Amino acid sequence: MTDKLFIFDTTLRDGEQSPGASMTKDEKIRIARALEKLRVDVIEAGFPAASVGDFEAVQAVANVINDCSVCGLSRALDNDIDRAAEALKSAVSPRIHTFIATSPIHMEMKLRMQPEAVIEQAVRAVKRARNYTDNVEFSAEDAGRSEIDFLCRIIEAVINAGATTINIPDTVGYKVPERFGRMIGQLIERVPNADKAIFSVHCHNDLGLAVANSLSAVLNGARQIECTINGLGERAGNAALEEVVMATKTRPDIFTCETGIDTTQIMNCSRLVSNITGFPVQPNKAIVGANAFAHESGIHQDGVLKHRQTYEIMRAEDVGWSNNRMVLGKHSGRNAFRAHLKQLNIELSTEEELNTAFARFKELADKKHEIYDEDLQALVTDTLASEREVYKLLYLRVLSETGELPTAQITLFMNGEEKTVSAKGSGPVDAIFKAIEALVNSNTNLLVYSVSNVTNGTDAQGEVGVRLEKEGRIVNGQGSDTDILVASAKAYLSALNKILSPFNRQHPQQHSSICEDTP
Ligand code: KIV
Ligand code: ZN
Repeated sequence: MTDKLFIFDTTLRDGEQSPGASMTKDEKIRIARALEKLRVDVIEAGFPAASVGDFEAVQAVANVINDCSVCGLSRALDNDIDRAAEALKSAVSPRIHTFIATSPIHMEMKLRMQPEAVIEQAVRAVKRARNYTDNVEFSAEDAGRSEIDFLCRIIEAVINAGATTINIPDTVGYKVPERFGRMIGQLIERVPNADKAIFSVHCHNDLGLAVANSLSAVLNGARQIECTINGLGERAGNAALEEVVMATKTRPDIFTCETGIDTTQIMNCSRLVSNITGFPVQPNKAIVGANAFAHESGIHQDGVLKHRQTYEIMRAEDVGWSNNRMVLGKHSGRNAFRAHLKQLNIELSTEEELNTAFARFKELADKKHEIYDEDLQALVTDTLASEREVYKLLYLRVLSETGELPTAQITLFMNGEEKTVSAKGSGPVDAIFKAIEALVNSNTNLLVYSVSNVTNGTDAQGEVGVRLEKEGRIVNGQGSDTDILVASAKAYLSALNKILSPFNRQHPQQHSSICEDTP
């Protein structure tokens, strides 16, 4: 076993399974590039068998990433494995991750398979994956509620079949740290060929214990942690990458292994993921929340000024907080703009995209004198999203005064023509959304509306998030602008553009029978 702790990032796969967090191919590429700069070991880019779009997104990530392994998820099915292998063909270091459920409840109620058949299918899947790559990960889904004797048997069998990483997921977030750590220790001790694989954990946060469980597993021999930026993921999310990384870095007296992460890139990744997915980061979130390094109380400030370590166990700059610098202004030219995007690892694919982004930058610089990295990230997200728009915002006028119901007049470009309408609402945002609905008539439900600031100061851009639901499908839309009413209209339209587009995708963990293509 090595002293290296491998970081397997699944923001683009499990993270994307959070309701509303689905990402386009270009958005995945931007996040993958940021993860490469962060120096994660493995990027799980998606589930290629889910849809053509998912396949192409994994393929696109595999095409551009050189310094990390790129991984595709597959159920233990021939077709899934073949699709994953095909999507990863151009990866410098491809990994196929195959899984099957091992808990009594999942085997009986979901798979409707006998335990022996589950072992057989797992072995068959790993062997098939090994025909494509020698980097194969096997996950025992719902391992947290599986019987340890059965886990030992299936793990021994898949290692013999060629699995090089064994992942133990706490799929439903049921474990507690002491027990989960003990379980990992027992597996490593009892599986006779355990030394031929790296043991990994994948913890969900339903009880708020994902990070604690992951760290407890590390203390008991796990050497890979599966995690996501900002803890994004199915339901309550996965273990937060920034927390596991900073815990091991800050407590070398306890953790005898090290990650290869460049922690100064953490904030950049956190902001990018939040901006693209529309999931805001709570202010008191460890490491990346706005208050994480703010020493508000007078007593604390006094202590910090006298001696930094009185109240600080980490330095803000070590996780990239000080990267927040003014980068461009009103007089910056096209070349400076392009060069700065490059530094941020943002490559726009066409000259036309660059021109549109630059025009937006000039508009923004007229309103806001100092443009920061975060402004540019938000601006590029907006620019790329607007290219796919069926409904485009052309004009907005809002009238709001005390004692009167606010009125919004809006002009949209839709179905090849300009349409204008006015509506009243209980507040200006309500009036804007009602006006849009008068034109679009979407039959969606508004679940969440949120506003946050992209940078500090009253001239900052506001970032608005809108979550809409239609027939059980949930999407997030985002918009940013120095005028939060314009940002609100953009966010609502961004969500509408997503929810009204065709959608046909399989969820990896929800299928009635896994036997569909077994012999
Ligand atoms: O939570 C889980 O069990 C998963 C597996 C597919 C690894 O996401
Ligand atoms: Zn998961």
